[in-house]
Amino acid sequence: MLDTFASRVTFLESEGAYAVLARAKALEAQGRNIIHLEIGQPDFPTPAHVAQAGSDAILGGHTRYTPPAGALDLRAAIAEAAGRQRSMQFGPEEVVVGPGAKPAIFFSALALLEPGDEVIIPDPGFPSYTATVKVAGAVPVPVRLHEMRSLDLDELRARLSPRTRLILLNSPSNPTGGVTTQAELEQIADLARRANAWVLSDEIYSQLVFDGSAPTIANLPGMRERTIIVDGFSKTYAMTGWRLGYGIMPKKLAERVELLLTHSVGCTADFSQVAAIAALHGDQDTVRAMCDSFHERRDRIVPLLNSLPGVRCALPQGAFYVFPDVSSYGLSSKQLADYLLDQAGVALLAGSDFGRGGEGYLRISYATAWEQIVEGVERIRQALARL
Ligand SMILES: Cc1ncc(COP(=O)(O)O)c(C=O)c1O
Repeated sequence: MLDTFASRVTFLESEGAYAVLARAKALEAQGRNIIHLEIGQPDFPTPAHVAQAGSDAILGGHTRYTPPAGALDLRAAIAEAAGRQRSMQFGPEEVVVGPGAKPAIFFSALALLEPGDEVIIPDPGFPSYTATVKVAGAVPVPVRLHEMRSLDLDELRARLSPRTRLILLNSPSNPTGGVTTQAELEQIADLARRANAWVLSDEIYSQLVFDGSAPTIANLPGMRERTIIVDGFSKTYAMTGWRLGYGIMPKKLAERVELLLTHSVGCTADFSQVAAIAALHGDQDTVRAMCDSFHERRDRIVPLLNSLPGVRCALPQGAFYVFPDVSSYGLSSKQLADYLLDQAGVALLAGSDFGRGGEGYLRISYATAWEQIVEGVERIRQALARL
């Protein structure tokens, strides 16, 4: 009895990135030199003025509970900034702040899904989508995500059913870096309206786009009332450890999600919220500089990977990931990722960690110093040559 747990948690597994990082750290503890290309967080510090605001907030007594959905001034600042970015207008009552973007995904799903409901998830896609849907008792329905584009629209059409309650979108995508075009969003919106489904649009990488911008589905006709936008501070402001994210959703749903926050996390750290206001109101130069740096690295890493025999790498438009096709080696992506860690000391993720659709690919994060990337790709070249 003491070692059996609720069925909603027995299937849960760690995220690939955490599992590989733990293995890489264990190898480092044995004295091995490891190149880290697995970690999905910016290699920049939190901007100095934001860190200062957070530190001043702690000393100034911002160390207490706040309203569960976030301090009203932060909700208003998010409504204004997120609206400006998307040419939309939001009110603070539509914004729910949480400790990261993950709680916005998790609690929106819990607030919407009944056991047996079906949820369309991108495949390959962020592993927490499947986990969240299953914890809610609902059924994940994977739909193929093409390397650099959006969901396969024919497959999406075929997979929609009267039980479809929610469609999960993520652009720019983790793991591919691909951006969904306006034309694709229009077709997805049309299908969502016809299926009377909700859409959760995870836009956490929306400010890390290199060629143009990533449009949102939320501002298409008839979509606002059925869309939850998820975004946050982790990637845009290099604040992964501050735990700050939000959802923007219709007010009635926001009230339900706020209740889930009330009875689970309580609220988001007060001083983190003060720092978030400083991030939104302050100079955005650091965001642009970070994006420019990822852009430059993308332009350099893609040709480098394409110069490896048997590797084909498409050009992603955003985030800080590349997703090379390594299927020509005839190994599973997990076998290849394990081989590269063990034999070459390069930590990266198997595409299959992101779903069956990722089989045959590797996910490489280039959010690390350029010298490390060059050394990592060189080690991969030599290791592949030995296969
Ligand atoms: C697609 C996607 N959504 C959400 C998150 C989680 O963001 P946060 O750290 O703000 O919870 C991540 C982090 O890796 C992500 O890649």
